[in-house]
Amino acid sequence: MPNSHPAELAELLRRCQVAAALTGAGISVESGIPSFRGVHGLWTRYNPMEYAHIQAFLDNPAKVWGMLRELDELIRQARPNPAHHALATLEKMSKLKGIITQNVDNLHQAAGSKNVIEFHGNARRFVCLRCRRQIDPATLDFSQTPLYCSCGGLIKPDIVFFGEEIPPAANRAAFDLAEACDLMLVIGTSAAVMPANFLPKAAKNHGAVIVEINLEPTELTRRFTDYFLEGSASQILSETVALLK
Ligand code: APR
Repeated sequence: MPNSHPAELAELLRRCQVAAALTGAGISVESGIPSFRGVHGLWTRYNPMEYAHIQAFLDNPAKVWGMLRELDELIRQARPNPAHHALATLEKMSKLKGIITQNVDNLHQAAGSKNVIEFHGNARRFVCLRCRRQIDPATLDFSQTPLYCSCGGLIKPDIVFFGEEIPPAANRAAFDLAEACDLMLVIGTSAAVMPANFLPKAAKNHGAVIVEINLEPTELTRRFTDYFLEGSASQILSETVALLK
């Protein structure tokens, strides 16, 4: 597949009726949050089945909180990068209907994007597994993990662990948007995880053009991608938005 360029993406965005974006960890790497796979990925240091599976969290919350505290610190320090801002600008220009994100770092919202579907939840929210109450992070002392609710229940970041279902409302909204769009930007994701990686297929099956932005080809590229832009999300999206202004 020949490489495409921001000028082609700008033209596709001009011509489309409903554009959607599916984002993954790669869009936040330049904000200081490591991706999961690849040479410096989080899963090269933490075995996801030992640290990111709901049963591991229930069996050994102190151990899993060790990784969660590291992730929480990285997310607290992270700021949106030009890629997040570019997508927020496209939404303001009415060129992007919404973002389906696999990320839990809240950076799309922090960049000003309004229609963000949190497919894997949001690490800035915390919930009690017993009473299901949402807990204000300002009331939590992260030096004393695991964290427990006043009802005695275990507190968990409001993120989807392996072995948990996608929040039904987010799942429905994501597939509705994927099936309604005629252009899907797939940005910074290895497309390794179900059911998120079904979304480009759903979009394609409903007639959408699939544009992939990534440093390297993925499992999607050969089967579903119509335009592949090789490079960093911030560079490509910033150039594309500049051409649309
Ligand atoms: N610009 C564009 N793409 C990038 C950049 C960048 N600057 N940096 C990295 N990438 C790409 C990588 O090439 C890779 O394809 O981002 C992708 C990151 O892939 P993963 O680390 O697998 O992250 P993601 O696809 O979001 O993982 C999906 O897996 O572990 C679960 O719940 C977790 O949401 C996560 C899901």
